[in-house]
Formats: sequence, structure tokens, C-alpha cells
Amino acid sequence: MDVMSNPYMPYPVRIDRITVENDERDLKTFRLVFLDPEHENAFDYAPGQFAELSVLGKGESPIGIASSPTEPGALLFTVKKTGVVTNELHNAREGRVIGVRGPLGNAFPLDRMKGKNIVIVGGGFAFTTLRALTTYLLDPSNRKDYGAITVIYGARSPGELLYKDELAAWQGRDDLETVVTVDKGDDEWTGCEGFVPAILGEVAPSATGALMVVCGPPIMIKFTLPVIEQLGFAAADTILSLEMRMKCGIGKCGRCNIGSKYVCKDGPVFTLAELGTLPEEY
Ligand SMILES: Cc1cc2nc3c(=O)[nH]c(=O)nc-3n(C[C@H](O)[C@H](O)[C@H](O)COP(=O)(O)OP(=O)(O)OC[C@H]3O[C@@H](n4cnc5c(N)ncnc54)[C@H](O)[C@@H]3O)c2cc1C
Ligand code: FES
Repeated sequence: MDVMSNPYMPYPVRIDRITVENDERDLKTFRLVFLDPEHENAFDYAPGQFAELSVLGKGESPIGIASSPTEPGALLFTVKKTGVVTNELHNAREGRVIGVRGPLGNAFPLDRMKGKNIVIVGGGFAFTTLRALTTYLLDPSNRKDYGAITVIYGARSPGELLYKDELAAWQGRDDLETVVTVDKGDDEWTGCEGFVPAILGEVAPSATGALMVVCGPPIMIKFTLPVIEQLGFAAADTILSLEMRMKCGIGKCGRCNIGSKYVCKDGPVFTLAELGTLPEEY
């Protein structure tokens, strides 16, 4: 069976560039280039999907795709140094060949979002697929299909914010509102200070004709959901992306279920209405 028809076989990719994202140096963005252009064509993805990154002899880890399909030529993944696989990735040098298996899971509902105002709320390093979504929506070929875009993104401190140059560029644009907040600023910080749920309440985007997209650590989700409800967003209009423990990534092993749903195959993107209740860690 060749690599393009076997869902367990990774595509070989070369680490083209590594960017250290944060002061703690435990978040790196990997720019990966397919060794075979045919594999790049076969890797047909949309914002919200993830892939398994594999390192020979260590295993594989599910990681959200941080690039948008409107940025051809490479894939971006932002990886936190956590354990076996992610440590090995953090020790890798540019030029090393690793594996990418996917794309996996579902995507943000781009068609349903058309004509709607979109509110994007992210916290911490879970902002990766929200970067993919925002980049997709802002692409000149897509921007006219969507209404007002508001991005609210928070991190613990200024040094922990991802994609700092892009955030600055978004803040300079007049076709989206970008609010960046930190739990606690430093001497140089001139932006917002405060937790994401509080800032969302202050910005108070209208729920009329709008969809809310949220991704962040469980604690942020827990405190953000009541604010979303107060703002009047229905559960069916509140879209979450979940990061659960996974193994196979293709609905075969039963490691990632919430009730009757598999996060890897039916998700990771769900509306709050679809989920009913959130998994225990949320
Ligand atoms: C859909 C999805 C998207 C994800 N996107 C990203 C991403 O964009 N960037 C990123 O850095 N990480 C992401 N993760 C989490 C990432 O998969 C885990 O951090 C990674 O698998 C850990 O692998 P490891 O071999 O380095 O760690 P291990 O050696 O396997 O584990 C080290 C520690 O991490 C914990 N851990 C392992 N897997 C997970 C998990 N899935 N969630 C929470 N804790 C875990 C373990 O309990 C242990 O304490 C995502 C997970 C999912 C399911
Ligand atoms: S990870 Fe195997 S079923 Fe979801």
C-alpha cells in the first residue's frame, strides 16, 4: 500500500525553519516542506484540522495545523515541549526529515460562517488553529464572504504570546478588530491586561448574525462559556475546538470519545449544542 492510500503512513517532510515563539522557549513553530510535491497536493486540509507529527523511534503526537491552505508551499505547526515526541521535535535542527500523517479530524464550518460576523476567542498556545482560521478568513479571496471579524487572544504574559509579528499586523488592519490581552503586563506592555473571559465581556461583540469560535485551555473555556451565554450566543452558534488525548487519530482505537463521539474523527471542532456536556477535564 502506498503512503497516499494508507491512513497510518506519514508523509516525509523536511523541517525548513524553526521559530522560537516565547520567552520560556518551550513553544516552537515548525515550517515543514513536503519532500514530494504529490504529497503536498494530496494533503488537502482546512483550518481546524490537525495532523500526527512523527519522529522515528519516538512515536507520534496530534498537533493542530497552524497554517492556512491559503499559504501554499509549507505547513506550520506550533509545538509545546511536553514529553517524548515533543521534546525530540524541540531538539531537532532545521533540515531534519520527520513525518506528517493527515490531515485528520473535521474543520471549522467555513461554509456556515459565510455572511456571518465571526468572533474568535483564544487563549494560550491553543491559538494555533485560530491563527489558521483568521489567516484563511483574511485572505483576499475569502474576506468578502465573511462579515465583521473580531479576534480576542490572551496569554499569561507578553513574552508568551504566539505570532507576535502577525498580531501586530492584524492590529494595524481596518478589516478586523484584534484585541490582545495578557494576564499580567510588563514595563513595556501598553495593551490590554486581564483574563480572556473578562475582556470578552468588555468588548461585548453582538450575537446578532454572529458565530463564536473558541479554543483555549480548559480553565479558560470554563470561565468563558458563561460570558458567551450572557452575550446571547446560542449553543448552536458557539464553536469549540477540543484537545483530548488521542492515539490512532482516525476513529479506530476508542481512546478519545466523549459519549458517542470521537474527538479525532467527529471533532476536534464541535458546537456547544453538539457536545451537550463538556468532557471532565473542561
Ligand atoms: C486535536 C489535538 C490538537 C493538538 N494541538 C496541539 C498543538 O497545536 N500544539 C501542541 O503543542 N500540542 C497540541 N496538542 C497536544 C499534544 O498532542 C500533546 O502535548 C502531545 O501529544 C504530547 O506528546 P509527547 O510525546 O511529547 O508527550 P508524552 O510523553 O506522551 O506526555 C507528556 C505529558 O503530556 C501529557 N499529554 C499527552 N498528550 C496530551 C494531550 N493530548 N493533551 C494534554 N496532555 C497530554 C501527558 O499526560 C504527560 O503528562 C493537541 C492535541 C490534540 C488531541
Ligand atoms: S484516537 Fe483512536 S478513536 Fe480517536
